[in-house]
Amino acid sequence: MKKYYITTPLYYVNYKPHIGHAYTTLAADILKRHKKAQDIDVYLQTGTDEHGINIQRTAEEHNKDPKQWADEIVEEFKNMWKVLHIDYDFFIRTTDEFHEKQVQLIFERLINTGDIYKGNYEGLYCSSCENFYDEGELVEGMCPIHKKQVEKVVEETYFFKLSKYQDRLLEHYRKNPEFLSPSYRANEIIRFVEMGLKDISVSRTKVKWGIKVLRDPSHTIYVWFDALLNYITGAGYDINNPDNEKFKSIWPCDVHLIGKEIFRFHAVIWPAILMALNVELPQKVYAHGWWTVNGEKMSKSRGNIINPVEIVNNYGLDAFRYFIFREVPFGQDGDFSIEMFKTRYNSDLANGLGNLFSRTVNMVRKYLNNVMPEKPENSKIFTELLLMQDEIYQKMDELQFSYALDIIWKAIAILNKEIDIQKPWELAKKDPERLKKFLNEMVWCLRLIARWIYPFMPDTSARMNMYLAIGEAQDKTVEASRVVPLFPKIENNKN
Ligand code: MSP
Repeated sequence: MKKYYITTPLYYVNYKPHIGHAYTTLAADILKRHKKAQDIDVYLQTGTDEHGINIQRTAEEHNKDPKQWADEIVEEFKNMWKVLHIDYDFFIRTTDEFHEKQVQLIFERLINTGDIYKGNYEGLYCSSCENFYDEGELVEGMCPIHKKQVEKVVEETYFFKLSKYQDRLLEHYRKNPEFLSPSYRANEIIRFVEMGLKDISVSRTKVKWGIKVLRDPSHTIYVWFDALLNYITGAGYDINNPDNEKFKSIWPCDVHLIGKEIFRFHAVIWPAILMALNVELPQKVYAHGWWTVNGEKMSKSRGNIINPVEIVNNYGLDAFRYFIFREVPFGQDGDFSIEMFKTRYNSDLANGLGNLFSRTVNMVRKYLNNVMPEKPENSKIFTELLLMQDEIYQKMDELQFSYALDIIWKAIAILNKEIDIQKPWELAKKDPERLKKFLNEMVWCLRLIARWIYPFMPDTSARMNMYLAIGEAQDKTVEASRVVPLFPKIENNKN
């Protein structure tokens, strides 16, 4: 059986990881957990993009050689993924030997097939993007993304024949409307390709820190050409044995998760390279939006870079995982502020889910001696909740995470309201049989909630299940103690 294959971008090693990197990687983890919960075998690949002038310069600034510098930053990334409980299967580095070797062989192959050829390039280059721009693409003469000066570069270079794939790309977009997702981002790409594709430069003579072209070692391979290939090399692609079992069990990729600023690379250049190699195209490229902080772009100079580890240390991992996927529809831009985080934490987690959970479990202990009968029959409320499940799963499949959470929190609100309507504390005196049935229903409903929140909040889900696994065995210490809140309320004065 082919695995469900999810990728994140390979992150540059010139910065420490921040909330932006965490966002894409968490999305991949959430999708993986959602699929796995349905018994689907998943392969999740992430990693680091380590070559190029930018990283060479950053390493020099720190008096390190680029590989040594990369080794240190890689540890920071791996550490962050550990803190965030990212369940990845493989961490690829573009400096991995097997990757470098495949990239060289692929480059040679494409020279032989005529898809790569030698020429001269004159262009405007932004070293932060590692990308060339046309005059018309600049904003006030500067790089449109980094707003910094571009350099005029003339050099001998190898070109990739991107123009040759224009029609096939357009046909692919037309026949596979899901390929470019979300659909509201597709038009920009289609228009760009329709305007006419130019061949792109895929080697540099001025950049030393890169993979060398085998037949022409004064050239290093353009970082984007190198980095994009990770998606196949990491999955076991071997140019001399492209049909090997490992690769066949993973490729084609089901979803490349990326940020919107690198959509073109993934939606245009990447599929064209695959076409040149005769490799099947991925199912979907999904471009999400960008986080700003208090309305501003994150940057070192502004000093406003959000480090997820600090938030996790202060408020807990699951609260962070919840917030960034609840607050903003996946695909759109969002703004992070600690005030909004605290507001949502208190309303949705402390009061909403946390309160519902504590109330129910405490009542089961108090009124039912912590003994839980089997699944309730003919429960209106349980059936009402079950009916929501299909829509939740559908939203998850569509990567509409905030909408899935919306539905789950609607269910939580219904349950909290039901407690207020049924008034179990009164039933305890008037109608113990009805009380028993009601609490039983609540426990089963909470088990559903625990199942639904699992991809987003695996620890909370496990904790809930632990308490909800109430059976015949009676533990007096458990009965006597009150449940520790899942999400203690944040007091106003806490930062
Ligand atoms: N190395 C390239 C990608 C090569 S993929 C073959 C690169 N690296 S990066 O370190 O700049 O990471 C970019 C990715 O980080 C974005 O595509 C996005 O996934 C994530 N984010 C970085 N900053 C972000 C925000 N402020 N908001 C949301 N995500 C952003 O580009």
